[in-house]
Amino acid sequence: MEKIVALCKRRGFIFQSSEIYGGINGFWDYGPAGAELKRNIKDAWWNDVVRSRTDVVGIDGTIITHPRVWEASGHTTAFTDPMVDCKKCKGRWRADQLPDTKCPEGGPHEFTEARQFNLMFKTFVGPVEDGASVAYLRPETAQVIFAQFNNVLSVSRQKVPFGIAQIGKAFRNEINPRNFTFRSREFEQMELEFFIKPGTDADWHKYWVEERLKWYESIGLPKEKLSQYVYKKEELAHYASACVDVMFEFPFGVQELEGIAARGDFDLSQHQKFSGKSMEYFDDESKEKYIPHVVEPSAGVDRIALALLCSAYDEETATDEKGQTETRVVMRFAPRIAPVKVAVFPLLRNKPVLVEKAKEVFKLLQPHFTTEWDDRGNIGKRYRYQDEQGTPWCVTIDFETLGEKGPELADTVTLRDRDTMKQERVKITELVPLISQKLRG
Ligand code: GAP
Repeated sequence: MEKIVALCKRRGFIFQSSEIYGGINGFWDYGPAGAELKRNIKDAWWNDVVRSRTDVVGIDGTIITHPRVWEASGHTTAFTDPMVDCKKCKGRWRADQLPDTKCPEGGPHEFTEARQFNLMFKTFVGPVEDGASVAYLRPETAQVIFAQFNNVLSVSRQKVPFGIAQIGKAFRNEINPRNFTFRSREFEQMELEFFIKPGTDADWHKYWVEERLKWYESIGLPKEKLSQYVYKKEELAHYASACVDVMFEFPFGVQELEGIAARGDFDLSQHQKFSGKSMEYFDDESKEKYIPHVVEPSAGVDRIALALLCSAYDEETATDEKGQTETRVVMRFAPRIAPVKVAVFPLLRNKPVLVEKAKEVFKLLQPHFTTEWDDRGNIGKRYRYQDEQGTPWCVTIDFETLGEKGPELADTVTLRDRDTMKQERVKITELVPLISQKLRG
């Protein structure tokens, strides 16, 4: 993990939040490469879960909602972790994740009795800070979807079975944020609430588990590092009939990326009870009225980004003719998810004709792909930089491009492949179709 964390900082994937002030535990900023990576994950999810289907629509709801939402969902009372303090060093831990280290004050820690700690961040709405103005930063995006069920149903012309999807920030005041971004206090979720007819829960749950596992492979996570954790009956919430976690083999252990739960009608029934508004649906095929059940695939963007960073990281050691070894660090992202698709270099930065031609190529590619311009250092250094960023292709404009090495090479460039390091000579006019074809895989 140390190598991955160091690369994340070095190549602008992830920085500690407020680093210049010593950082703030459990909060992370994404740099230029990380922001593109995250955007690609969210775009892939939105495209595959919402836009390419006819039975899912999206919403974009608020982070702060009416506090009754969290009473209805049970978060105000039950969204807690057991917490203990050490009476000597004043350290604080989750009671189920106690440290195996000695107390810095000497001897073993002296723990207090465990007490429940609510993980929701509290704030106040308006200028008066009293009990009546308390509100919470949402600990999940799901409840915003349930609270808007009737509105979405009435405008979207959907019929059960159908889904409502949302991507957005969630906040949890985790007692022990850890494993880099894996357990953060501010993170992003991609959640789908798929509403179904009661009795069809098992079939739809199986369907979504299969869909979601396929999706993880489609963004480049290796099948052998993915697994499922199937909840035992006694582990399920009282209202749930099934739950499967999609697990990934991180360097720090096999951990959850996404939970897919069949939650019955619990959430809509609770909102009906607390709001007094009917959540019933009239099924015009069976002529029945019912509160729809729901299957919920709920994924974390930051955990997926971390899984992609961990699985993409590779070191390749090569020995040259002089017997010198060099290690190349390369992020082998699937091109679909790579932060930058193509980097464009003029061979030399101090030759205006090369720079001008390279700018032309850059402008040609930029509307089609996330393209980066790089004219710093020598070509070897630029390749190493792009390898560490996971850029699948680099285009170099050289003297051949200018026709100085023969007219047959004029207006051709070198296209270099990140994984094989092979270089091919390609006509500038063929770059866009060729890279598009490679991107489609
Ligand atoms: N609506 C259901 C729900 O929120 P969850 O298992 O608590 O279920 C869903 O969260 C996903 O959100 C997790 O699988 C994980 O990917 C992500 N997630 C949850 N807590 C997180 C945290 N503290 N830091 C980063 N991601 C988190």
